[in-house]
Amino acid sequence: MTVVVRSFAKINLGLYIGDRQQDGFHNLVTVYQTIALHDVIRVSVVRGKGIEIRCEDSRVPKDESNTCARIAQKVMAVAKSKGRVKIEIEKLLPVQGGMGGASSNAVATMLALERSLKKPLPAEEKLNIAAEVGSDLPLFLLGGTVLGVGRGEQVYPLQDLPAVACVVVKPEVGVSTPKAFAAWDRQRKASTIHREGAGRSAKLTDAPPFDRMSELGFALSTWLSESYSGAPLRRGRRGNPLLELVRAGIKNDFEEVVFPEYPEVSEAKDALVRSGAKYASLSGSGSTVYGLFTAKEEARKAAGRLSSMGWAAQATATVTRREYWKKFLVSSF
Ligand code: C5P
Repeated sequence: MTVVVRSFAKINLGLYIGDRQQDGFHNLVTVYQTIALHDVIRVSVVRGKGIEIRCEDSRVPKDESNTCARIAQKVMAVAKSKGRVKIEIEKLLPVQGGMGGASSNAVATMLALERSLKKPLPAEEKLNIAAEVGSDLPLFLLGGTVLGVGRGEQVYPLQDLPAVACVVVKPEVGVSTPKAFAAWDRQRKASTIHREGAGRSAKLTDAPPFDRMSELGFALSTWLSESYSGAPLRRGRRGNPLLELVRAGIKNDFEEVVFPEYPEVSEAKDALVRSGAKYASLSGSGSTVYGLFTAKEEARKAAGRLSSMGWAAQATATVTRREYWKKFLVSSF
């Protein structure tokens, strides 16, 4: 049986990086949000053995290093199934874009494969497999607006809010996530030494990691307590509740290390703000930046304007959890 699924992208609505742990991973707090841009994944199991990846995009690895191949191997082992897994990736999302393309592709592959094998795996098993392959895979097992903690792999669904129009801009550069984390560590170390060196008179512009991480938690709690207090969610003049959240002052820590190294990424964010975005930010470690807009039409116009200025811009919208699952399966035959 061939199973065809949509593999949606995500953006990060705020991302606070905490301490580096002994295993090399960093604690973080982030809000993931799925968006309508997606790849299409086709999975089938035929006679034989091994895993075959097909993708017309030459930047996508076709060997066992591909996240889809890694997850397929694990699923076949856990399901104790035999056969040759054929995975076709129709790539529309940017590679190394900070939109979780490779992670989403892997989760889509796992879900399509269990369907193709007609062997549903327990939820716990799927979550474990996803987290083993990468920190930002588990979010795609929930979809919609998702709180991510731990190294990003511990996920909690947040309220499913109406879709918000957005524009994503992908500057030509690719940012490596491990390198961005390493740059963050170097910067923190340098600022700590500077603070200690300056003694008591130091201006504490850099809050310690855990204070900063709790800032996002606090903004989120305020927002949730408001929306769960029984008062109607604020819409109309003040816009969508998701816009209320991002306006609470949340930010993506990766901007501090990615913007100085890649000025064009910072310029893309400025261009989004100038085009009328109500909130703009780097997604993950980039290089994608996104802007949220109050209306679809505004997003469409802004994307047109940005494209004519030479930016690779696309108008899209956030995808609620309900829509995510409604649109996930394309066909199965
Ligand atoms: O989990 P994932 O494979 O996406 O992580 C890629 C790399 O990013 C890790 O090897 C690690 O260097 C870094 N990382 C991190 N802290 C996280 C997530 C990722 O340091 N929370």
